[in-house]
Amino acid sequence: MVLASPLQVSAQQPASAAAKVYAEVCAACHATGVANAPKLGDRVAWSPLIKEGQAVLTAHAWVGVRAMPAKGGRPDLSLEAFSGAVAHMARAAGGDWKEPDAAMLGRIRAEEAKRIAALKAKK
Ligand code: HEC
Repeated sequence: MVLASPLQVSAQQPASAAAKVYAEVCAACHATGVANAPKLGDRVAWSPLIKEGQAVLTAHAWVGVRAMPAKGGRPDLSLEAFSGAVAHMARAAGGDWKEPDAAMLGRIRAEEAKRIAALKAKK
């Protein structure tokens, strides 16, 4: 039996901040597909979502959509952290999504406002 030496462990890259948020918050549902959450790396499930575009999809998930709780159920999560985790999942399913910069965060905020207005209009 070969045991991993401490050297091998410390040589690994630290997980990116987005991967950390994913692991701590999103994986609870998105690793196994709780309540039909699109699973990490499931290209079939993610392909239509990726097509919605980064600003729209991130804003809808941030506001909450069907069984997806707003902010992943963590009200203390920042939009930066949340949107990074969305990009992390999109990349895992083959999407070419970058960590959101200030311009993208602005577009997400604009989509968020539109979404909230649309949801209010329905009531
Ligand atoms: C409590 C379980 C749960 C947690 C935690 C959770 N999600 Fe979800 N998520 C879901 C479910 C369920 C869906 C599918 C919603 C549907 O289509 O009914 C979903 C859908 C999504 C979608 C697709 C939204 C759409 O428009 O169809 C995105 C993006 C997403 N989640 C991102 C995240 C991110 C990022 C996190 C972590 C910060 C997270 N989720 C944490 C349950 C969860």
